[in-house]
Amino acid sequence: MTQRRDAQRQSGREIPVEALTRDQARDELARLAEILNRANRAYYQDDAPFLTDAEYDALRRRNALIEARFPDLKRPDSPSDQIGARPREGFAKVRHEQRMMSLGNAFDDEDVRHFVDGVRRFLGLADDAPLDFTAEPKIDGLSLALRYEGGRLVTAATRGDGEVGEDVTANARTIGDIPEYLENAPEILEVRGEVYMRHNDFAALNERQQARGDKPFANPRNAAAGSLRQLDAAVTASRPLHFFAYAWGVLSAPLGKTQMQAIARLGELGFSVNPLMKLCRSVDEMLAHYNEIEERRATLGYDIDGVVYKVNDLALQERLGFRSTTPRWAIAHKFPAEIAHTRLLDIEIQVGRTGALSPVARLQPVTVGGVVVSNATLHNEDYIKGRDSKGNPIRNGRDIRKGDWVEVYRAGDVIPKIRDVDLSKRPADSKPYDFPDHCPVCGAEAVREEGDSVRRCTGGLSCPAQAVEKLKHFVSRNAFDIEGLGAKQIEMFFDDDLLPIREPADIFTLEERDHKNIAKLKNREGWGETSADKLFAAIRARRKIPLARLIYALGIRHVGEASANLLARHFGTWEAFERCLTNATLGEGPEWDELLSIDGVGEVMAAALVTAFHQPASRALIDRLVQHLEIIPAEQPASDSPVAGKTIVFTGTLEHMTRAEAKARAESMGARVSGSVSKKTDLVVAGPGAGSKAKKAAELGVKVIGEQEWLELIGAKP
Ligand code: IVH
Repeated sequence: MTQRRDAQRQSGREIPVEALTRDQARDELARLAEILNRANRAYYQDDAPFLTDAEYDALRRRNALIEARFPDLKRPDSPSDQIGARPREGFAKVRHEQRMMSLGNAFDDEDVRHFVDGVRRFLGLADDAPLDFTAEPKIDGLSLALRYEGGRLVTAATRGDGEVGEDVTANARTIGDIPEYLENAPEILEVRGEVYMRHNDFAALNERQQARGDKPFANPRNAAAGSLRQLDAAVTASRPLHFFAYAWGVLSAPLGKTQMQAIARLGELGFSVNPLMKLCRSVDEMLAHYNEIEERRATLGYDIDGVVYKVNDLALQERLGFRSTTPRWAIAHKFPAEIAHTRLLDIEIQVGRTGALSPVARLQPVTVGGVVVSNATLHNEDYIKGRDSKGNPIRNGRDIRKGDWVEVYRAGDVIPKIRDVDLSKRPADSKPYDFPDHCPVCGAEAVREEGDSVRRCTGGLSCPAQAVEKLKHFVSRNAFDIEGLGAKQIEMFFDDDLLPIREPADIFTLEERDHKNIAKLKNREGWGETSADKLFAAIRARRKIPLARLIYALGIRHVGEASANLLARHFGTWEAFERCLTNATLGEGPEWDELLSIDGVGEVMAAALVTAFHQPASRALIDRLVQHLEIIPAEQPASDSPVAGKTIVFTGTLEHMTRAEAKARAESMGARVSGSVSKKTDLVVAGPGAGSKAKKAAELGVKVIGEQEWLELIGAKP
């Protein structure tokens, strides 16, 4: 209590920061440091806070304001440097011990056959060797990970970005299908599955929403997500949610030898598992079960959007492993898109972050599969003209014009598309669409390079559309993911004259500029003290960023998330990455060769990377940004593995596993696998028939071993 009164007294006789003398400021910074550090200890270590969140925030803010006015008086133990900012309202974050993956998609029978062939090829199985799959409905809800320790539910976390989700334990405990205690369960057991809402419950909930004057939910999936992500678990409890278990994460003991056994075991432990799961012994059986599930779709009572196939044998699943975000051993076979007909009111051009001019159809709103659609992508100028990228006719060459009646479809969550036009309803006075050859935003010429299906604005970073889209990408979920700074806020800040964000570095000077600014953020419409402080805290928290996220966030053409991961893993640190690109020359030299030696990096991506670091405006932007950041080096591969950090080249025929499996295996043990031999190669694994690569290795003095030796090295049973 006395501590609390101290704090109140402290803020009670506040002199406005502008009026403080240097001496007063120094004294006050000392007092604030003492009280805030004490408050942190009380909160974190003693679990006995003596300040409310609002009081604590007010003191922290005053400390920051004084420091902004007298930067040289900032203390070495300044509370601004303690990242122990309290968890804010909202959900706590949970790091998934094992990443939560998504699934690759198949859209037709052909895709499924291709998937199965790929699995066989990876495993080196003959066409007629037995290979079983499970097939089960793909539930349209949201995924949840439940961790049990000693049979007791300890955490429930949403998927989030796959690495970090939200802690919704209190809410999950209110779901009837989720057991609180398990008997005879492994000591540690993480069960994964889908939270969903049944159709009848959804309809009743929406009636209640409307009766209360609240907005109805668009579909059961949104209703389930909205209900699970309630800060007040009592609200979740009042919403009828269900849960199907279909997968698992960390385990202290295996659940079975096959997918079927493991799921049966989860059923025995008390989880709901889907009754339509079936073991299939061939592609034909998989497709037959898909058709059966599709026929029953309307009568199931809950939404499903496809069928998931999984390799049944868990040892094979383990061998197949994962690509960057999806397993090699499973795929989602989606149901066909739903279709609707409507009028195309207008064609608008959007300019993306790489300058691409993308035509968007503005449609008379129409419901497609339960969602109202008023925009659809038109891809590019050839698509509008009725041609594919090679100039061959699509839609029998029918072009798309303003005023046309069009067929719109949605496949899964993707943006609606236009499949066809109805010429019989075309207005008599309609004219072919004239695709612009100048950027509609900045007026610069828009050109189409040879072989590119896309026309691009040549305005670069001076084009406001490109700059703003680059920023939106920068803050997006898999990039910097700054809470409270999404696409909407970026647009607002981009157009703000007093407190603008025009390039990434501006994000990290926002707080400092705000403190010096008369038009403070907290006084703006839509903002308040809490939301402004929250934003600054979220930005501060992101000054520390993993290398892969940073590389992805830069938005360099051709460098997606998977490539950013490859680059981060290869270079390890920002310094090494930057040094290579700075010294690289296009098309030749050791740095260029190093880039190309990274498996998955080709000439097109390498050229985009080098250009981004050599083009003065874009380089300056990167330099201005990184000085605000602390870049976390890419995780170094497990150092206890004998091949960790080594660069390996496979050549010739391997007898015990396919080249693809050998590569995946080596990478999972922390090795880099390269396609070509150079001075940087540590090891060449040569099977029968090895030719020029083995020869080059011998010339360069690189160690060459046979498959048998390789298997012994990695501890695999031949
Ligand atoms: S298996 C490693 N099985 O679909 C793969 N996922 O599009 C683990 N989903 O994130 C997922 N029903 O949320 C699996 N029967 C099912 C599923 C299912 C729905 C969801 C899941 C996943 C998403 C991928």
